[in-house]
Amino acid sequence: MSTTATAIAHPNIALVKYWGKRDAALNLPATGSLSLTLDVYRTRTILTWGAPRDRVVLGGTEASAADAARVLHFLDRVDGDRPPCEVVSENNFPTAAGLASSSSAFAALALAAVAASGQQRSLEEIAVLARRGSGSATRSLWGGWVIWPRGERPDGTDSHGAPLAPEDHWDVRLVVGLVSAGPKPVGSTVGMVHTERTSPLYAGWVESAEADLLVGRQAVVDRDLRALGEIMEHSAYKMHATMLAARPHIRYWRPETIRALEAVESLRKAGVPAYATMDAGPNVKVLCDTADAPAVAEALRGAVGDATILAPGGPAHLLP
Ligand code: PMV
Repeated sequence: MSTTATAIAHPNIALVKYWGKRDAALNLPATGSLSLTLDVYRTRTILTWGAPRDRVVLGGTEASAADAARVLHFLDRVDGDRPPCEVVSENNFPTAAGLASSSSAFAALALAAVAASGQQRSLEEIAVLARRGSGSATRSLWGGWVIWPRGERPDGTDSHGAPLAPEDHWDVRLVVGLVSAGPKPVGSTVGMVHTERTSPLYAGWVESAEADLLVGRQAVVDRDLRALGEIMEHSAYKMHATMLAARPHIRYWRPETIRALEAVESLRKAGVPAYATMDAGPNVKVLCDTADAPAVAEALRGAVGDATILAPGGPAHLLP
């Protein structure tokens, strides 16, 4: 017998960042993080539980051996005795370019796998499962503003995304300045482990993260763009400083990244509250008021060529 489930999940962008693991095997973070789930961008995953053979199709083509192994290994965690499965997944945005495609990918996969296998699991349990695939995925089960606490338990059952405020809590925009749609040179897990091992700034990064999270959380609750913007830029620059201090260094930025960051500072000098963040890639994402988003997009287009305005998005869900 075979069962098929289709799940949709949106990527999220961290405003207070996760970079570093307290347990690599369980994928437990060294620090808590805060994110915003986005609309428009999405992963759609169709999973057939009980297929003629294991098969993974990503973006319309047969997955590479490494990608297929990562997906199938994830399904083994859902059920160690599972039947062969077929996974057909596609994104409507650039994959693996620091636009958080792994967050929506593993959130959609976890949701589809639990539904197709007929298991009864709470959303929190699905978020713990998603975390094993990719840490940031644990935040994409929810819409809007999401906290992922570090957690205390060694087994990680208390380390998963949790809703802070829904997508309609605060009408802001995240404008993505697209420097490159190509894959990133260093994957996030490799980059994190290397940073932990070799960056002398790593201890300070971990030690100062909890305070950033508290400030960020309160700023979201208060809808205080200046307070959130200030802490989100600080968290992003501090994360990149920590990895720049690794040996050898990890640098995701390109000349256009700096141009975009300068454009954001010019906007602020001109009185437009706009704040930047960068992930494991060269792209720059800018948080601003909805009314200012067209001006922010215009400035980013001047700096990097391409910009997209995104609003807060909803939770991951199953299609009927
Ligand atoms: O969980 P991963 O492997 O997608 O790593 C996420 C790393 C950052 O995007 C840089 C930060 C974050 O909190 O999302």
